[in-house]
Amino acid sequence: MMDGDRISQNMPDFLRSHPEIKYLFFGGKGGVGKTVMAGATALWLSEQGRRTLLASTNPVHSLSALLLQDVFGKETPVEGTGLYALEIDTKETIEKKKEEIAEKINWFLRFADIVGTRTEDFIQSATMNPAFEESAMFENMVDLMFENRYDVYVFDTAPTANARRLLGMSKVYTLWVEKMLRSRQNAMGLRQRLSFTKRKEEDPLLEYLLSFRDRIDRVRSLLTDARLTAFFFVVLPEALPIAVVRRFINWFRDFGIPIGGVIVNQVIEKESITPGTPEFVLNRVKMQERYLDEIFSSFPDVRALVPSLEREVQGVEMLRKTAGYLLP
Ligand SMILES: Nc1ncnc2c1ncn2[C@@H]1O[C@H](COP(=O)(O)OP(=O)(O)O)[C@@H](O)[C@H]1O
Ligand SMILES: [Mg+2]
Repeated sequence: MMDGDRISQNMPDFLRSHPEIKYLFFGGKGGVGKTVMAGATALWLSEQGRRTLLASTNPVHSLSALLLQDVFGKETPVEGTGLYALEIDTKETIEKKKEEIAEKINWFLRFADIVGTRTEDFIQSATMNPAFEESAMFENMVDLMFENRYDVYVFDTAPTANARRLLGMSKVYTLWVEKMLRSRQNAMGLRQRLSFTKRKEEDPLLEYLLSFRDRIDRVRSLLTDARLTAFFFVVLPEALPIAVVRRFINWFRDFGIPIGGVIVNQVIEKESITPGTPEFVLNRVKMQERYLDEIFSSFPDVRALVPSLEREVQGVEMLRKTAGYLLP
């Protein structure tokens, strides 16, 4: 049987059977082709007449290199297409989030009558860690989703671990926020009873907690809705990329995040083999066959086998060519 015949529902069929699909993510090991597949899918969707944004939340950007066009920092029409692309300015986001947090911490320290403490130390410890950067990135993605100015969003480099952590944590967050809210409300009630003026105090921390809870609830309901969201995993017919995807898929199942399927990239086409094909290529083909068997038997829904192209994928023409294989 030809490998292609082992695919029961391909990418276009999957997308057509999900007409409301709105948030697409591409995950997988570094270097497997996530950026290329996200780009090709976004281009295809835009050519179906849907207003599409290809966005990168990765601090190490590659969309400008893929599109041969500067898309850094603002939503930019991609020349020769109906597609929009954006590399999020992560530095700016992180600074913005730092300011927001600093504001909240300052307010809280004043509210709690904590004086003489070096506020800077609090802010530093809250923001000087990789988890903060990651979650600032995630927040940025959520902002884009909520602005709701496109029909479809294709996110290059799913902040996979992050999404999973956030969604997994959301139950814990919710409990925590509920608890904070109750104790905040009690404290505010007490302060108001003790105060002479009896006027209602404003409470930015309470407001912040409430809006934070709202945001988490909203994003969770979007990201777990299989009509709207699909995570695709890109894999090569090789051991390590397969191991990475196996782990991701199990996490995602646990959290009820919809899996769109698996895309196998860099497959050497058997039709390209001639009597003159060198030994090492033949060996690679044999190795790939073994791993393809493993992929088909252990992963749900393989959607595409994309061949190794003659050179790296850059520019709209190469992207269209890739889309021709990914979305036949
Ligand atoms: N099917 C393919 N044929 C040829 N080159 C490819 C193919 N898929 C990806 N590439 C190239 O491989 C490199 C890694 O792809 P990229 O999409 O940047 O990976 P990732 O985003 O997962 O790190 C890039 O140089 C890209 O052009
Ligand atoms: Mg990439």
